[in-house]
Amino acid sequence: MPSQLTNHSRSSGRDLNERRLLALADRLLQECGVDDHNLSILLVSDEEIRTINNRYRHKDQATNVLSFPFADGADPALAGLPIRELGDIIISVETARREALLYKQTFHERMTWLLVHGLLHLLGYDHERSAEEEEAMQKRENQLLDKMNTYRRSPMTRLAINVDHVATIRQARGISEPDPVTAAAICELAGAAGIVVHLREDRRHIQDRDVRLLRQTIQTKLNLEMGANKEIIDIALELKPDLITLVPEKREELTTEGGLDIISQTKKIAKVIEKMHKAAIPVSLFLDPDPKQLAVAMEIGATFVELHTGRYCDATDDDLRQHEFDLIAAAAEEGEGMGLRICAGHGLNYQNTAPIAALDTIEELSIGHAIIGRAIFTGLDKAVRDMLAIVRQADMLL
Ligand code: PXP
Repeated sequence: MPSQLTNHSRSSGRDLNERRLLALADRLLQECGVDDHNLSILLVSDEEIRTINNRYRHKDQATNVLSFPFADGADPALAGLPIRELGDIIISVETARREALLYKQTFHERMTWLLVHGLLHLLGYDHERSAEEEEAMQKRENQLLDKMNTYRRSPMTRLAINVDHVATIRQARGISEPDPVTAAAICELAGAAGIVVHLREDRRHIQDRDVRLLRQTIQTKLNLEMGANKEIIDIALELKPDLITLVPEKREELTTEGGLDIISQTKKIAKVIEKMHKAAIPVSLFLDPDPKQLAVAMEIGATFVELHTGRYCDATDDDLRQHEFDLIAAAAEEGEGMGLRICAGHGLNYQNTAPIAALDTIEELSIGHAIIGRAIFTGLDKAVRDMLAIVRQADMLL
């Protein structure tokens, strides 16, 4: 049964993503085995939560979250009826925002914590009753938070490697080598934090067999790049990669040419995100560094955006490169402020990656062609380690 969210808070800003919160609440209910119940979430201001806290708990102060189990206030005459209501979780958006700053979390991470905390209270946990109960509640809280953040934030910029072009060489001969699955294992052994493959509709490089084997063998994270097309969506839903990245896909292009325009196809992309969320697959959208596109990504519940670095990489003079870099830096800052998680990629190589890796708003880089190209001369292990050294050095510049 879906959760309902009512937003009364006057302070709701562009970082408040109602769809994403609702999707999260639904997953939490599922995880706790109570998805046949209704949950009501009310977002309020500090002033409102203070009034509620005073009236029902005789505490004249604002707080972050309050939970009111349905059973507590229900008419005893209703007992025994098949009513499936968990109750209400009331969250002060203002306090959540302040606490996010205090605990160095994004706003969405803070809201996630408050929602988990509030839900556990509705389910009967109470950290105020005893030290044992406090420990039990904290343990369950951590379990749920771990589950909700399947693709976790790391303090270091991660390097995910796209192995499509190993398959490009294989397909040129139509035989079975070189194998992108072997390449992925070598990348992981050299320190890559994830493997990316683009399963194109025309299967020009990566084949279905590759994705299936990678799903079974990858030890880090599998990011499946894909167009929003039904056949590939079904494959993703079946294989459950750790992340999917939606990209625009044209048959005649040599590689992904520009970011996905989600303004002209908001409904279609929102539907794909909804389907993936139901299957607990986080979604990244490959976008140009355009704040208007990012705002829509946030609105329709994307977890990540991957900023297209192609124009920065292709810039033919320093001024233009700086201009494109500034657009990426500003978009990353703005996106992170909204609560989106930020990746970047396309065209990055051993010369131009360091400034992008040094942006502390960017969590992960997706790099393919430059690493696979260099591997022909140096071997794949060294090509990966050389790029990792650049990324790690840039991280230390922060
Ligand atoms: N990110 C996306 C969305 C891409 O489509 C590609 C190319 O497949 C890359 C990153 C990697 O780009 P490159 O091969 O130029 O490093």
